[in-house]
Amino acid sequence: MAILAEYYRWLLAFHIIAVMFWMAGMYYLPRLFVYHAEALENDTPHDMFPIMEEKLLRIIMTPAMTAAWIFGLSLIFAGGHWPITDFWFIGKLAAVLILSGYHGFLTKQVRLLAGGALPHPSRFYRLINEVPPILTVIIVILVVVQPF
Ligand code: HEM
Repeated sequence: MAILAEYYRWLLAFHIIAVMFWMAGMYYLPRLFVYHAEALENDTPHDMFPIMEEKLLRIIMTPAMTAAWIFGLSLIFAGGHWPITDFWFIGKLAAVLILSGYHGFLTKQVRLLAGGALPHPSRFYRLINEVPPILTVIIVILVVVQPF
């Protein structure tokens, strides 16, 4: 894995860039769901939302999540973290798996809302909009401070 270690700083840079694009979408998409659900609840115009949601997911979020995983996994070997024994890293991976599951949940909502359904009320989307920022704080503290 020496070849990966040689490019550690490049891999880390692209990992952080991919994470920033992914998180930008994770913060914005649920917000679009809030406005979309409110428009459906109040019977106001909503035709633009499915287009915005689908493009944000397909063009930005899913490629960015894939890149974050590819560069993140390569960093495990480039940074000498394999086998994984550090508790901070196990905690980080657990939080990242929750984020990835959340991404899957958002993907399902995009499909259901595009079909004209209202799977959840607007206040539900307002609530779940808090999940990615909270996980971001936890992940960044774990990986930068490595407290345990
Ligand atoms: C998608 C799966 C992910 C994997 C496999 C992964 C893995 C890694 C690894 C192995 C490192 C290098 C750690 C070191 O050598 O010190 C790293 C660095 C980093 N990761 Fe991730 N990560 C992932 C997702 C994320 C996410 C979602 C965030 C933020 C929300 C994040 C934020 C960071 C930051 C800020 C660093 C730089 C830490 C530093 O240089 O001090 N990562 N990641």
